[in-house]
Amino acid sequence: MNPPVLPPVVTGLRCAVCGERVPISQPFSWTCPGSSASSPHLLRFERNLAPLRAVDDANPFVSFRRYLAWDAFAAACGLSVDERIDLIRSLDAAVESVDGSGFRWTPLQRSGALSDALGFSEHGGVWVKDDTRNVAGSHKARHLMSIALHLLVAERQGMVSWAHESGRSPLAIASCGNAALAASTLAAAMCWPISVFVPERADGAVVDRLHQLGATVVRCPRRAEDPPGDPCVHRFREAVGAGAIPFAVQGPENAWCHDGGRTIGWELAIQYELAQNDRSQPAMLDRLFVQVGGGALASCAWSGAADQGTVPVLHAVQAEGCAPLERSWRHALALDGGVASAGTHWRECMWPWEQEPASAADGILDDETYDWLPIVQAMAASDGSPVVVPEALIVEAHALARSSTGIDVSPTGSAGLAGVLAMRHQIDPDENIAVLFTGVQRHG
Ligand SMILES: Cc1ncc(COP(=O)(O)O)c(C=O)c1O
Ligand SMILES: [Zn+2]
Repeated sequence: MNPPVLPPVVTGLRCAVCGERVPISQPFSWTCPGSSASSPHLLRFERNLAPLRAVDDANPFVSFRRYLAWDAFAAACGLSVDERIDLIRSLDAAVESVDGSGFRWTPLQRSGALSDALGFSEHGGVWVKDDTRNVAGSHKARHLMSIALHLLVAERQGMVSWAHESGRSPLAIASCGNAALAASTLAAAMCWPISVFVPERADGAVVDRLHQLGATVVRCPRRAEDPPGDPCVHRFREAVGAGAIPFAVQGPENAWCHDGGRTIGWELAIQYELAQNDRSQPAMLDRLFVQVGGGALASCAWSGAADQGTVPVLHAVQAEGCAPLERSWRHALALDGGVASAGTHWRECMWPWEQEPASAADGILDDETYDWLPIVQAMAASDGSPVVVPEALIVEAHALARSSTGIDVSPTGSAGLAGVLAMRHQIDPDENIAVLFTGVQRHG
């Protein structure tokens, strides 16, 4: 007998700032209608209660299909389960042919060497999720895959303004690193035009690879008339205003990046539970340390892990050279209505970092933590806290990460470990904590 076909879990979207609801069947529901650059809003997915169960498949988008919002959108458009799975598999195959890697579960392991070096007991330890061999060398493509699938469904159902693929509106992204590479890889797999807005001094090797992938690279010097904030983000917003599709890894620019991003947390929770069954330990991950740039990663990884029922304490890690999240945390706690009211006090809590950001962890130098709100709420719900780490610890964590695990991780990718170093004396040796090694070291 075939197992019953279970319905999708996500039921719609709701704005965390103004409460506006958007039905799941509505295409291109990237942002809340009330949102603007000066007063951002953030759509969040609403879902039915459903225990997290993974279908046994190497591809996380197949394993967790039922929990993904794009799947609920596709179901509302009338696509059958088989058609939805076929869509994932065919895009994944195209990605693999462009990149050499498709979407696969990424390994989670307790690092004995790291755990010993940091003085954890045999009951506790440091668990490392290794995303360095993900599509395009980082976790970023996870965020973008759900936007890509949404677009392909909308196009297939004739919900777009163009009659032929050659008339597609271009994708747009602001990034100089991993997100740009991930976006351009997916765009190449879909043969979809993309504009990538990069800083004036973007890394030459990254720009070369973007060109190879067929992206239009737009350099963005700061203009005298620009408001505060990243000039690449300003140019990106202008392009979106002119009709480009926000292929973004920041929730306020495109809420759907939070969809696929959650696969990281779902995998983490399930892999950890399975590993504890082997060790006969209770399946409780005590803490999760995540490096924070724009903030989508920490938000998605924690909320994904929390979906499984065990809620790890979240520590959001930023470098002292750029730490707008810690500032927003303090401001949110001080509000009359506390953190619960923070959504309606967006600009009182989050504004661009004034100094020129600097750190070896150059992937987390976003001058605004665009997804600060869900992170602040997650830290409040889990009794967590932000950690601002001195630059020396970023460098030390990077060296320790590489020497103890052998993983070819970048300083950005290991920056969460710097948070563990900073807090080591406050963590019990029996605790189990997780870090995400999110990006490969790029040489040259
Ligand atoms: C390797 C790596 N890790 C972590 C991050 C931080 O992710 P987020 O910007 O979602 O906070 C980035 C962002 O560029 C990154 O490239
Ligand atoms: Zn809103």
